[in-house]
Amino acid sequence: MHQAGELTSFVGRTRELVEVLQLLRQQRLVTLAGPGGIGKTRLAMRLVRDCADSYADGAFVFELAPLTQSNQVARELAERLGIVNAETVPDALRSSAMLLVLDNCEHLIEPCAALADELLRACPRLRILATSREPLAVPGEAVFRLPPLAIPRDDSLEQLAESDAAHLFVQRARAARSDFRLGQTNAAAVARICRRLDGLPLAIELAANRLAELAPAEVADRLDSALRLLANGPRTVPARQKTLEAAIAWSYDLLEASEQRLFNRLSVFAGGFTVDAAEAVSEDGFDVLPRLVAKSMVQADLQADGSVRYRLLEPLRAFGQARLAASDGSRSAMAAQAAYVVALAERAEPELYGPRLPSGQRASTASGTTFGWPTTGCSRALTPRVPCGSRQRWPGGGRDRIAKQKRVVASSVLFACRTVSGFRGCARAR
Ligand SMILES: Nc1ncnc2c1ncn2[C@@H]1O[C@H](COP(=O)(O)OP(=O)(O)OP(=O)(O)O)[C@@H](O)[C@H]1O
Ligand SMILES: [Mg+2]
Repeated sequence: MHQAGELTSFVGRTRELVEVLQLLRQQRLVTLAGPGGIGKTRLAMRLVRDCADSYADGAFVFELAPLTQSNQVARELAERLGIVNAETVPDALRSSAMLLVLDNCEHLIEPCAALADELLRACPRLRILATSREPLAVPGEAVFRLPPLAIPRDDSLEQLAESDAAHLFVQRARAARSDFRLGQTNAAAVARICRRLDGLPLAIELAANRLAELAPAEVADRLDSALRLLANGPRTVPARQKTLEAAIAWSYDLLEASEQRLFNRLSVFAGGFTVDAAEAVSEDGFDVLPRLVAKSMVQADLQADGSVRYRLLEPLRAFGQARLAASDGSRSAMAAQAAYVVALAERAEPELYGPRLPSGQRASTASGTTFGWPTTGCSRALTPRVPCGSRQRWPGGGRDRIAKQKRVVASSVLFACRTVSGFRGCARAR
């Protein structure tokens, strides 16, 4: 539903609105954190509309994205508030009961943190809502990590009706083509698009815009090159949100070299990874993964058994893969991943073929024999040790062979990862 001032309809986020409103009542600084395009600003604007009246002095939105220099932050805020001297802002707001929104802080995180800290100390009735790809790390901050929109679990119309990602796609699709209707013929393609884009609202909007010239199935088919396809944002949005690649690059460029290196290497994991797996492909210290999580480049999902599983949202993974391919780390990352998976599979092997393995699992294990491991390059040494029944050698030679090799390494590793992690889930359940 639209509200005054919104140019496009707002979808879902009912639970998040309730939770953040509650946090704002308890804490004086709440930060909405998450990757670019996940909907932090959009949610913050909704919150402002919903709760501005409960602050005696209302809400004030300070948008930081256009600023580029640290020393602009306090000055610009003063100017926007109509205060002549930036140093007197804390004094001027001392008795103010206001919600101050610091929108899009990540590129100026230090001055934003200093400003928030100073204002919260000086102005006891002030509350701050920040949006940032990374928390401000100021005492008293409550961080709310915004998840992607729910994606459909299967291709049925019932599942699409329950998915906010699909709702967003359909609403934006209608804006791109007024005759667009969701039905049996395009449900599978729409579900595929939402899943491939992992429920990331910006990516879904860009994909829906493509319906002006492509059918949903054509969009879905082209999403393997999502970063190139989704380069079609509206003229009036900020440059960093015009293309999916620019949205991700905005965060990537703010990473340190070691963080970029690990992020690229983690892109070899489709379907998530554990901390052990991350360490196996890492060339840097143990503290780099937590920093990538803090900066919203990696999602950390708490599992039912209390463990944490990590993943890169699919559009971010595609970006990481492109960067990895452009660097010279691609082969070594794949080799490290393959070695890790093989070691894991070897440890699990005795049980993989055990009599108590559920039949579905046995079938998927058996289907692994259709993947052959390449006999050249990084995984030659691994060939005889692959436990998932692979006895085939990959035919062919020359350049074709290298291309096939890459594909085969990727698919074999993927298969092994899924088999082993799926099996472990079964093992735990028994
Ligand atoms: N709940 C929603 N309903 C409708 N549209 C949404 C929703 N969430 C996000 N969008 C749309 O997705 C796009 C990205 O959202 P938004 O700008 O809020 O992301 P962001 O997390 O603030 O990104 P950035 O880190 O780049 O600032 C926008 O066009 C926005 O309108
Ligand atoms: Mg934003």
